[in-house]
Amino acid sequence: MAASNGLGSFAATYATLVLVVCMVMVCSYATVPPLTLDYYSSSCPTVFDVIRKEMECAVSSDPRNAALIVRLHFHDCFVQGCDGSVLLDDTVMLQGEKTASPNVNSLIGFEIVDRIKSKIESDCPGIVSCADILTVAARDAVILVGGPYWDVPLGRNDSRTASYDLANSNIPTGDEGLTSIISKFLYQGLSITDMVALSGSHTIGMARCENYRARIYGDYESTSAGTNDPTTKPRLNTLRSGCPAAGGGNDNIAPMDYRTPDMFDNSYFQILINGEGLLSSDQELYTSILAVQTRSLVRTYAEDAAAFFEQFAESMVRMGNITNSDSFVNGEVRKNCRFINT
Ligand code: HEM
Ligand SMILES: *[C@@H]1O[C@H](CO)[C@@H](O)[C@H](O)[C@H]1NC(C)=O
Ligand SMILES: *[C@@H]1O[C@H](CO)[C@@H](O)[C@H](O)[C@H]1NC(C)=O
Repeated sequence: MAASNGLGSFAATYATLVLVVCMVMVCSYATVPPLTLDYYSSSCPTVFDVIRKEMECAVSSDPRNAALIVRLHFHDCFVQGCDGSVLLDDTVMLQGEKTASPNVNSLIGFEIVDRIKSKIESDCPGIVSCADILTVAARDAVILVGGPYWDVPLGRNDSRTASYDLANSNIPTGDEGLTSIISKFLYQGLSITDMVALSGSHTIGMARCENYRARIYGDYESTSAGTNDPTTKPRLNTLRSGCPAAGGGNDNIAPMDYRTPDMFDNSYFQILINGEGLLSSDQELYTSILAVQTRSLVRTYAEDAAAFFEQFAESMVRMGNITNSDSFVNGEVRKNCRFINT
């Protein structure tokens, strides 16, 4: 009896010890060093110039490249934090995120990151993480198509892991309901305001027919019925002819902001007010019966481009601040963004 009591209290003490150790570990995880603006100022002073120059080339050769990079950064940050995990190729040893359902046949633009990385490696080998490169490149992409500037906090590590499962579960899809998408942003520590402002990224870039077929043969006609814009009906016909109801043409693309597809401006929000959002998820921000808060934000940004730019910049910093606490311990600066270091 006494022995078993002794064992019991030993077990209790041990459990407490484990708990305390775990708490200390959680605490040390929480003290991931904050990102800083001058992180590379002495170790790689050319980093901003190199990224800007490569992004200028990429965007001037095709403005859509700006959209590709912004989206890569988003899909990176929503899976294990902004840690370059989205950039990893599948290998025998590692299952990457590129074939997860929101990404497969959809995410492109990885060569742009490769090109920047190789330039930076020749200037400052082993110093600048791929996650940081992608964050700065996304900022530059936005500026180059007419969007706002913001300072980019730096110091992220690249992960040595990726998560196919989290890529499937964390990234919102175009046919997902508003409340479910909101919960995915809240889960990342982002707000409804962040979600609406960041959705404004859809002012640039394209979507594939597969992701808007149900919308253009579904409620597009009714949501856009109230507008007096004479281009609305022809617009729907064009969309339908590029995306047959019966299937086929899944990879045909259309701009989400058909007015100024290559311009970072607030016309995306005006399009939502017209009921002409291309993705169901876009239109829901304005039209859903649950869209009380999001609807008023859409109105604000549609009327006031400066308010949109200011919130977008702030929300991009917040999204870029989603950390992978594991890469604090196990992270690295990859030599090649597609592969972990050997
Ligand atoms: C709010 C939830 C969101 C949903 C449901 C969503 C969904 C989508 C879908 C379905 C596409 C088209 C992909 C394809 O057809 O292959 C797309 C494209 C895009 N998304 Fe989002 N997205 C969301 C938020 C964001 C955020 C937060 C950003 C960036 C901060 C972003 C940036 C982009 C860009 C730039 C494109 C165009 C990419 C291209 O031209 O290839 N999206 N999004
Ligand atoms: C970034 O995250 C850290 C902790 O993870 C927090 O202390 C800091 O305030 C955040 N910065 C911004 C701009 O959100
Ligand atoms: C990155 O990893 C190094 C160790 O390899 C660590 O000292 C540093 O604090 C980490 N930084 C972040 C932001 O996780």
